[in-house]
Amino acid sequence: MEEKKQKVRKDYIEEAKKSLSKIIEEIFIRLSSAMKVAQIYEPNNLTFIRHLNLLFNLIQNILKSEKKAVFQFRQNTLFFNTDIVKFDFRSYHNFKFLADEFRKKEIGTLGFEPGLSEGELTQFITLFVDDEVKKENPFEDFEAILKEKGIGHIFLEKMHPFEVARGVREEKLQKSAIKVFFKSITHLKEVVEREKQKERVQLKTTRRLMQSIINLVSQNESFMVGLTNIKNYDEYTLNHSVNVTVLSICFGRRLGLERKELVDLGVSAFFHDIGKVEVPEEILNKPDKLDDNEFDIMKTHPWHGAQKLACVKELNILPVTAINVAMEHHIWENLGGGSYPKFWKKKRTDFFSKIAKICDFFDAVTTERPYRKETATREEAVSWMLEKSGSEFDAILLKVFADMVGIYPIGSLVVLDTEEWGIVMETNPEMALMTCPKVKIIADKDGNKIDGGIIDLAEKDLKTEKFKKKIVKTLDPFKYDINVSEHFLTTSA
Ligand SMILES: [Fe+2]
Ligand SMILES: [Fe+2]
Repeated sequence: MEEKKQKVRKDYIEEAKKSLSKIIEEIFIRLSSAMKVAQIYEPNNLTFIRHLNLLFNLIQNILKSEKKAVFQFRQNTLFFNTDIVKFDFRSYHNFKFLADEFRKKEIGTLGFEPGLSEGELTQFITLFVDDEVKKENPFEDFEAILKEKGIGHIFLEKMHPFEVARGVREEKLQKSAIKVFFKSITHLKEVVEREKQKERVQLKTTRRLMQSIINLVSQNESFMVGLTNIKNYDEYTLNHSVNVTVLSICFGRRLGLERKELVDLGVSAFFHDIGKVEVPEEILNKPDKLDDNEFDIMKTHPWHGAQKLACVKELNILPVTAINVAMEHHIWENLGGGSYPKFWKKKRTDFFSKIAKICDFFDAVTTERPYRKETATREEAVSWMLEKSGSEFDAILLKVFADMVGIYPIGSLVVLDTEEWGIVMETNPEMALMTCPKVKIIADKDGNKIDGGIIDLAEKDLKTEKFKKKIVKTLDPFKYDINVSEHFLTTSA
């Protein structure tokens, strides 16, 4: 009997928690819609009045049960009265909108107190959207306006300076990373077009792009590696070549290459598949497996690539390594196995070719292709590659690469012991903490899609000294129709 009572009580608490979080989410959605409406309509407009009325009633309800309603932004996460607010994907854009608006005014906390009137709320929202953001003291200026208007039941707290600086820095960096990434795809597209027209390739632009990628990699390697989750954005070969370039530069940096060498490595990786312009499109884009004859034609691309690059006039800008990488990126470490071209007779491949081979394989097998039955998850790819360590891939280099992408590579879809789902956003640089990356929570334990913010799995519970959460298994994002790259793009959307 007692057990039954306890269960009823537990169910009741769970239900109450769920309905409270629904109301909070609703308030947030209403707040963002009221602000958007206020940007267009005057306060006496009926649409605005209706939105505001709905919002006001919701806040009143919550103030009755909770006594206060405090929203706080911290580390891209929203808290309500110290609890994390979980979002459904449908309301995610509302969250982004408000987070951006609050950041512009450097508002970290927004609170409503009992006694709040509809008039105060109307004024607050109207002033919020009317007030031109002053760059120097956005928070202080806005707070002063609220005081002047006598708005006493709404209070604000300034965002921590660290949060402001972090937000600005990260956002700027991520935006330029995305820009450079897509610019590189466009540039390669132009190169291919010019190549087809027998026009000169603009190598100076290529080198400049490599410089930008190196700068971005040295500031946020994880984010750049994360961007290589973007697949099939344009024609496969273009997107793939840029991914191999980014991975090779990250890899080269880990190996301690100097800046000039990194540029050369980047250029070499960028053009590694340029020979594919000579492969007929019906073979390149064939939805089924290639037959022997077609595969033989496909296998000519390293030779064509090397030949094309050798004919480039500006050899002082194009590194010789580019010719080698184009020729050798399908040659195995033991020179056997599925190596091609078969007429290749050197005793060993070049250093940059070994790097490009690893990055090329990793990106290719993790990309969905119509002719391939199964696409490997990123961790499956690493484990396949480790099986071929020393035979297909250079053993030492492969070890460094595996460390770079981690046991749980950036972009992996993982399940935690709390039954939440997340995406690996950053690996832990410490060897002992390789199983504890930073993870963005994308679904709660009930399978609802949410934006749970980024958590560090290296965090320990102070009492038990055990990790608060840990990874129990990985899943294939393709099977669950989850587009991993979206999570890297939306972080700075
Ligand atoms: Fe290739
Ligand atoms: Fe390739």
